[in-house]
Amino acid sequence: MSAALAALRIGFIGAGRVAQTLAPAFDRAGLRVTAFHNRGLDAARRLGFRVPSARPMTHAQQVVDNCDMVFLAVSDDAILPVCRDLRWETRHRVVHCSGATELTALDHAKSAGAVTGGFHPMQMFANPDVALKGLRGCTVGIEAEPDFRRELEMLATSIGCEPLALPPGVRALYHASAYYVGPFLIALLKEGVDLWKSFGASEADALRAMMPLLRGTVAAVRDGGLANGMGGCVARGDVGTILKHLEALDERFPSSGALYRELALRNVPLGIERGTLSSLRAAEIENLLRTRREESELSGSRSR
Ligand SMILES: NC(=O)c1ccc[n+]([C@@H]2O[C@H](COP(=O)([O-])OP(=O)(O)OC[C@H]3O[C@@H](n4cnc5c(N)ncnc54)[C@H](OP(=O)(O)O)[C@@H]3O)[C@@H](O)[C@H]2O)c1
Repeated sequence: MSAALAALRIGFIGAGRVAQTLAPAFDRAGLRVTAFHNRGLDAARRLGFRVPSARPMTHAQQVVDNCDMVFLAVSDDAILPVCRDLRWETRHRVVHCSGATELTALDHAKSAGAVTGGFHPMQMFANPDVALKGLRGCTVGIEAEPDFRRELEMLATSIGCEPLALPPGVRALYHASAYYVGPFLIALLKEGVDLWKSFGASEADALRAMMPLLRGTVAAVRDGGLANGMGGCVARGDVGTILKHLEALDERFPSSGALYRELALRNVPLGIERGTLSSLRAAEIENLLRTRREESELSGSRSR
């Protein structure tokens, strides 16, 4: 880490889950986490507990006045108004952690001569203790002018993360991509868990059974890529098994059946790419999935 980075006084406005993870990570890396402010007391207490050397401030402006680099780690919609209500100077580096929010949300600071940047760790921050353990190796999407970008890249590296330079204008798509493997993955797990509940198992039973499958899937994709990582009846071309799934789902859980069909259709090109699904069998599967979709839409509109 450069001496200049190590000398910067870092502050946090917003002490939520991301601040409660990044602040201790910076602190452990030997950076100067100096001050923080949070609107509510609970989160402020939690951050204070995690980084005892940082000073809690009553007002956000005190963080700005006492720090050189300020993280606006507040909810996305609050970034612009919080930034706008503060007085910035040319010495400041102002950073938000939002994946989807454009840097223009920090324009008030920029117009005062501060440099601005985005620092978005691609990680799930549901629980700061878990997130802190999972921070090493995770990608941080960084957007800033070249000099500041290099500084933010060093900051990411200092906590064991992989910096990724984001070109301007791509934030919403980049951030949407993370949803498929974060929150939407949880939605998919819930689909699976609900089916287990239908035959009397608990959520804990279902998750215990699903975790090794999840780990196996992740490991297969990590080692072989998307197509090579895929097993299952679509990749094998087992039309009969797909039909059994659809009949069972459509009978009792039609909305799960609809989701299954959409996902199975997305699996077909991967099965072909993998080389285990012939184009003839692929057409058969697509036909089955689309016909069942039309039938289900028809019966849905009749019952309305
Ligand atoms: N959670 C994730 O997985 C994740 C991942 C990467 C990046 N991020 C980004 O990191 C940033 C912070 O997210 P988070 O998950 O840490 O959120 P969080 O745990 O919900 O915390 C939000 C923080 O924003 C503060 N806040 C909300 N509205 C405010 C307002 N109008 N004025 C002042 N403070 C306000 C809250 O203060 P109170 O305690 O007073 O309500 C709280 O400290 C967001 O930009 C988010 O997109 C999140």
